[in-house]
Amino acid sequence: MLFDPLTFPCGLVVPNRIALAPMTNGQSLPDGRLGDDELAWLARRADGGFGMIETCAAYVALEGKAWAGELGVDRDDDSDGLARLAERIKRGGAAAIVQLFHGGVRATQKLTGEQVWSASSFHEDTPGFETPRAATDADVARVIEQFADAAVRCERAGFDGVELHGAHGYLLSQFLSRTMNPRPFEERARLIRETTRAVRARTGARFCVGVRLSLEDRGHAKGLDLDESLQVAAWLAEDGAEFIHASLWDASKPTTKRPAENPIPLLRKALPPAVRVIVAGTIWTHDEAEAALAKGADMVAIGRAAILNPDWPRTGAEHRPPMRRAELADRAVSPVFVEYLTRWKGFVAD
Ligand SMILES: Cc1cc2nc3c(=O)[nH]c(=O)nc-3n(C[C@H](O)[C@H](O)[C@H](O)COP(=O)(O)O)c2cc1C
Repeated sequence: MLFDPLTFPCGLVVPNRIALAPMTNGQSLPDGRLGDDELAWLARRADGGFGMIETCAAYVALEGKAWAGELGVDRDDDSDGLARLAERIKRGGAAAIVQLFHGGVRATQKLTGEQVWSASSFHEDTPGFETPRAATDADVARVIEQFADAAVRCERAGFDGVELHGAHGYLLSQFLSRTMNPRPFEERARLIRETTRAVRARTGARFCVGVRLSLEDRGHAKGLDLDESLQVAAWLAEDGAEFIHASLWDASKPTTKRPAENPIPLLRKALPPAVRVIVAGTIWTHDEAEAALAKGADMVAIGRAAILNPDWPRTGAEHRPPMRRAELADRAVSPVFVEYLTRWKGFVAD
């Protein structure tokens, strides 16, 4: 099953059921243009047999930038860089997907030069928290256009599709949140739905459009409810999403809300059959990937295992952290990315 091709409603065919999960890594240039390290890291995984390569979260507008070294798809002056990236990933045999991102309250004035904004103004008692201003109608209209413009840029550059980052408590997820957005459910779902529709409408019928969601609370993703998230997934399918990518953190575990149920069959049941289900979280072996497919996923996305083994689809060899810097360098993980990975306790050995 893992090595069966998969067709998306737009007609995109990927050679197997294994995606590289989107991973932020700091390897882009200070102004958001593609860096050679970013190209090398993704190219190595395309050559390693991943059927689909997702880029790191890439900001659709400078005002949504959340990290130094983040890739930017916010303007036209790096069309060559994006085209080079798309061409190189596809040459490796993988489908090329950009993850479109706006940080909302998780952006930072240090990088954007502006006060951050979100669904409402609220305060969190965490170090460095920047209180957001509440979105105006103009902010909402502008950000929808920014997502659509960025998707068009990716399509022109030769990418096969985009994934809207609606997970992990970034802007689209902030609007879905009960705690960050004090509005009725249907209104909280409006921004992600209208953004999906706008991206779908502005891109060609053969361009793949999907959305990543957190189904329940974890980390910065707060104020989410499992049943609301499943309803959002169903609405997004109506709005033209061709895949829903659930960020589960551990795909084998049951949901928090219903401890007897795994989320994968629930998501599968919530969606029309043609809409693809991608799942990510603590998949280290081919057997664990097959188990996620058996539960109803169409595709798995591999994060940490793919950092440690760029040939994971071909070899399935299980490398577990920690790993030494020199070994990471051999796997096209640049010193900048290694530095970022030191935030993950126990990942980098020296
Ligand atoms: C270094 C690193 C960076 C990440 N950056 C992103 C990101 O930019 N966008 C995103 O949606 N998820 C991001 N994630 C989450 C992964 O996509 C994935 O869902 C998570 O790591 C769980 O999968 P795994 O257990 O296979 O690592 C990141 C994870 C890691 C380890």
